[in-house]
Amino acid sequence: MPRTAIAGTGYYVPERVVTNHDLTLLMDTSDEWIVERTGIRERRWVPEGMSGAEMAKRASLMALESAGLRPGDVDAIVLATLSPDHLIPGTGVFLQRELGLEGIPAIDVRAQCSGFVYGLSIADAFIRVGQYRTILLVGVEIQSTGLDLTTRGRDVAVLFGDGAGAAVVTATEEDGRGVLSTHLHADGRGAELLWLEFASSKHHPRITEEILRQGRHYPSMDGKEVFRNAVARMPEAVQEALAANGLGVADLDLLIPHQANLRITQMVQRRLGLSDGQVMSNIHRYGNTTAATIPIALAEAVREGRLERGDLLCLVAFGSGFTWGSAVVRW
Ligand code: ACO
Repeated sequence: MPRTAIAGTGYYVPERVVTNHDLTLLMDTSDEWIVERTGIRERRWVPEGMSGAEMAKRASLMALESAGLRPGDVDAIVLATLSPDHLIPGTGVFLQRELGLEGIPAIDVRAQCSGFVYGLSIADAFIRVGQYRTILLVGVEIQSTGLDLTTRGRDVAVLFGDGAGAAVVTATEEDGRGVLSTHLHADGRGAELLWLEFASSKHHPRITEEILRQGRHYPSMDGKEVFRNAVARMPEAVQEALAANGLGVADLDLLIPHQANLRITQMVQRRLGLSDGQVMSNIHRYGNTTAATIPIALAEAVREGRLERGDLLCLVAFGSGFTWGSAVVRW
């Protein structure tokens, strides 16, 4: 049975840098508050009119180039996002069209911050059963157009940014290399603790002026509950993944956690007893780009030379749903 290797990585972030100071001009907040609680110093926002599919295309072309492949080599697209360009259809088909890959399947994954890990698990299953050999796996997010940029929305608005990350995963017969296992979880009891309530197909009409006035078309979050769950579930998922392969934290060369918040990453690191060198963090530059954080961080880690052939990599995510999951990869 073939294994799944990560053959190439890529990312794209918009050029526009939005600093914490820039946000103070829009809402009552401060650089000190944001840095102290989240570690975020700046994030990127898309220019008017740039789509998620466009960002995804740029990240994908970089990933394909680094894998030494062409778009035509891709057998299937798996795209994770919580901010689709349109509600119908999913962003996957727009990316497929941008890449000129008519005919191959495009699957959208809706697992929020865990989308990339969920997507990797789906791609890995396709590859192991032999259905596809080369899959383009993308996490892309445009958060900036959907945030309440007034003081009312500041607890959420300061956290998020825009960006895209991609990985080309391919079947390998090389012994010991590739995705060793993936582990997915969800607990819908936490669904309303981090969600975007409207527009909702449960209601007719799906949105009203009253809902807009109340700001219930913006994401909302119980920050403390999200924090509490994230710092419990992420270390558990890492331990689960390592144990499933007879490995321990000392074997880990690099952990790439979902970049939710620096304090969450630090707590996960402490609970697992990992050194700074074992944990990837780039949240200070991009904020939380939800499904895109892990593939962007992975692409940067590769370019910073933090992964060498044979290294043990673990990806771990937690997000809205709640959803969470992990993957261990022999690089
Ligand atoms: N700037 C200034 N003040 C703010 C801001 C802001 N951006 N946001 C909230 N405040 C105020 C609050 O109104 C509150 O004021 P009050 O005491 O007068 O009521 C005060 O700051 C403290 O608010 P808390 O909510 O208690 O702040 P807390 O220390 O819990 O930090 C935070 C909030 C950073 C959101 C924290 O709960 C957290 O990190 N949660 C995790 C959430 C997260 O990472 N979500 C990302 C998405 S989910 C994911 O990716 C896993």
